[in-house]
Amino acid sequence: MADRDAAKHRIGTRLVEAGRRRQWTKVPDLPGGVVNPPIWRASTHLYESCAALKEAAAGSNEDGRFFYGRRGAPTQWALADALTGLEEGAFGTMLYPSGVAAITGSYLAVLKPGDRLLISDNAYDPSRSIGTGLMKTFGVQPEFFDPLDIEGFRSLCATGGRIGAVLLEAPGSLTFEVCDVPALAAIAKDAGAWVLIDNTWAGPTGFSGLSHGCDGVITALTKHVGGHSDLMMGAVSATERLYRRLRRTAQQLGQVVSPDDAALALRGLRTLDLRLRRETESALAVARWLSERAEVAAVLCPMLEGAPGHALWKRDFTGGCGLFAFVLKGRDAAARARLVDALRLFGIGYSWGGFESLALPVDPATCRSVTSWPPAAREGGDGPPLDEGDRFAIRLSIGLEDPADLIADLEQGFAAMEAGE
Ligand SMILES: Cc1ncc(COP(=O)(O)O)c(C=O)c1O
Repeated sequence: MADRDAAKHRIGTRLVEAGRRRQWTKVPDLPGGVVNPPIWRASTHLYESCAALKEAAAGSNEDGRFFYGRRGAPTQWALADALTGLEEGAFGTMLYPSGVAAITGSYLAVLKPGDRLLISDNAYDPSRSIGTGLMKTFGVQPEFFDPLDIEGFRSLCATGGRIGAVLLEAPGSLTFEVCDVPALAAIAKDAGAWVLIDNTWAGPTGFSGLSHGCDGVITALTKHVGGHSDLMMGAVSATERLYRRLRRTAQQLGQVVSPDDAALALRGLRTLDLRLRRETESALAVARWLSERAEVAAVLCPMLEGAPGHALWKRDFTGGCGLFAFVLKGRDAAARARLVDALRLFGIGYSWGGFESLALPVDPATCRSVTSWPPAAREGGDGPPLDEGDRFAIRLSIGLEDPADLIADLEQGFAAMEAGE
């Protein structure tokens, strides 16, 4: 489990120190050891005798104890340990072969037939479809809620049957609404539900899900932690009660991540803070520029002063990232395609959080159940100022390029959009 002393250091230091336990970096004949835990490619762990084998089998089945490759070895343990140390209040971290596997693994660990699963209506599409697909076939009842309507959520929790789990996502990774996590989590807890949050956008340096009332924090390490678009992995850092369930379920499902990928994720972790600071700064420069453009109806970037969700982001978050979206003013899908196709520095692709910038056409209206897109004007709310015709959005993942070059690229993209018919 995590080194508790590490919590007193600041984030840059913690990212450097995290998971580097002496016993995992020690090598024979080199008293100082090495910096990184070596990549342990090991399915079989050998025992010296039948008695030792029997003792291991009767052992405590904890991370950090050798047994057999499916339970991991020091490379995976070092990554899990590092993530646990970064998440305040976490007892342990379960690793999964993708972010989606982490979401499914969390649902399966806590839900029983007959349970209701309440999913935030701005959640990542597979978080929704796993609920309405796989989980429904297991007898779970998926329901969606508007994450910005606290009283509506309270009423939903007060009616109907047992709520097994609530899934939050803040900000939503398509439309970037920031919900009041502590308020929703408190209501969900009162209703006896497990509270899960997909925290991939902010990651462990930008938002602490457990200290804001959640039981488990899901992160697609594929994105910022990997940071180089070359690995797939997910993690859930959790309280002790949840962690034990996650681990039991993951073991029964045979979930294990490769040591090579764990080493890549650990490498990514060391520079996470630097990359996120740079991405955030560049994203803000691009977002400010976009917000001045006549072709843009709204910039959906909670880090931007005056943007929807900014007040809650400032209240609860300690960092941001390069992922945000903007909505075209009254343009159609063909105009949007002309813009995106003309971009030279932005790749067109799913995923985000890599060192390279990406652009993705997104149609939020296609993955909503109880909220509308464009959002209806909310009394006293701070939704984006959109008209009915402002439907088509582009999501940008800002990478490490110079923001001036990215802005110039977008400028020629807008010119191509307006030139073509
Ligand atoms: C918010 C969010 N959560 C989870 C995931 C799933 O991660 P993975 O692609 O590693 O399965 C994604 C992937 O795009 C995502 O955007």
